[in-house]
Amino acid sequence: MPKPSQIVGIDIGTTKVCALVVRVCDDEPLEVLGLGLATSRGVQRGVITDLDAATEAVASALDKAERLSGYHINSALLGIAGGHITCSQARGSINLPNGGEIGPGEMQRVLTAAREAELPVQREILHVLPRQYVVDGNGGVQDPTGMSGYQLDVDTHVVTAHVGAVQNALKVLSRVGLQADELVLQPLASAHAVLSAAERDLGVVLIDIGGGTTDVAIFIEDAPWHTSVLPLGGNTITNDLAIVLGIPTETAERLKVDVADAAPVPAAVSSALPGTGNSIKVENFEDGGYKTVSRELVHEVTSSRLSEILSMVLAEIRRSGYDDMLPAGAVLTGGGAQLRGATERATAVLGMPVRIGHPVDTTGLSEAVQSPAFATSVGLPIWRARSLTRSSRLRRNPSSRKDPSGRLAGWLREFLP
Ligand SMILES: Nc1ncnc2c1ncn2[C@@H]1O[C@H](COP(=O)(O)OP(=O)(O)OP(=O)(O)O)[C@@H](O)[C@H]1O
Ligand SMILES: [Mg+2]
Repeated sequence: MPKPSQIVGIDIGTTKVCALVVRVCDDEPLEVLGLGLATSRGVQRGVITDLDAATEAVASALDKAERLSGYHINSALLGIAGGHITCSQARGSINLPNGGEIGPGEMQRVLTAAREAELPVQREILHVLPRQYVVDGNGGVQDPTGMSGYQLDVDTHVVTAHVGAVQNALKVLSRVGLQADELVLQPLASAHAVLSAAERDLGVVLIDIGGGTTDVAIFIEDAPWHTSVLPLGGNTITNDLAIVLGIPTETAERLKVDVADAAPVPAAVSSALPGTGNSIKVENFEDGGYKTVSRELVHEVTSSRLSEILSMVLAEIRRSGYDDMLPAGAVLTGGGAQLRGATERATAVLGMPVRIGHPVDTTGLSEAVQSPAFATSVGLPIWRARSLTRSSRLRRNPSSRKDPSGRLAGWLREFLP
């Protein structure tokens, strides 16, 4: 009987901080043991800009998660994002003396070689993710363990982050008394929560529209081939509404959630806000004051900004060079994906099939995390569980237990996704 293990993930988003304690047991659904939510502070476009404010928000989420789960939390996985993230491809190559057999040591050596092929200045390598192995020139190998040959190559997807941004995120964790098990690029975590294995295998793009960022991750042959973080999100639409209509941000947010529709042909919905026909009455700046805004203008502002964000995503997909390798289309997730008409607008802009991605089924406190806004939070523990399974061979190799940085609680940071 496999032993269930507990995993804690912390997603420090631009609008919310979520600490999730889950129990993972083999192929069973995640059991949510504790959920702590706090309004995010000190984070702009996915990057920590105020250590004190961010620490307070994380401490509050952590406290709630501990009280709900009954666990004392010492370490957690941390989701990371922001415009400072870059990705590239790197190849690692090693010789196998006398046509030797490929084992854990060789797998580790070839990943180290790929890692060392890219040593960017002032950047921290977050992930070195194998896309395919090549044994004596024969590519397309997913797992070469046990194969024999003279040369082993690996093609990897390398994700790097700005050192300062990483250090600030780790500082916040350490200030709330936690060690980082692993830093995980947020869209990679989201992808594991909302994409099916078939989609990841066939070719799909994940688009996580958060508050301050829109994350993009392209999966082909069950591996990430391209990742990117764009510095615009759902809050950009709210800000546009506030500026164009001359109303407070809170009113603009409510208008966006209750009334706005980004579809090319908006559906007729009865609004929760008062007003008739094309006019909607919304709260204005002064206490008790109201302002009448045009439904048409709300539609125009919302759809043009969402179209712009999606056009940037499309440009990113084209830049990757994989635009004709995505038969499974696009999956929209993140809180911003809940915008009315987002699917229709995305289908029109991207020119591919689009669906909304909700996190996979969970048990326990499951209802709370079923919204697309929790894709990253739910994805973090799934990412960890899958990493541990994939790396069970490396675990048997004592040399992989080194943690030269000494910062991470996890033993396998160097070589794992
Ligand atoms: N029903 C809704 N309709 C439209 N937008 C919504 C809805 N619910 C939430 N949002 C928007 O989703 C955004 C927040 O999404 P999410 O919680 O995924 O962001 P985050 O993880 O905090 O931020 P980020 O990932 O960008 O750092 C906000 O802009 C919010 O207005
Ligand atoms: Mg997010």
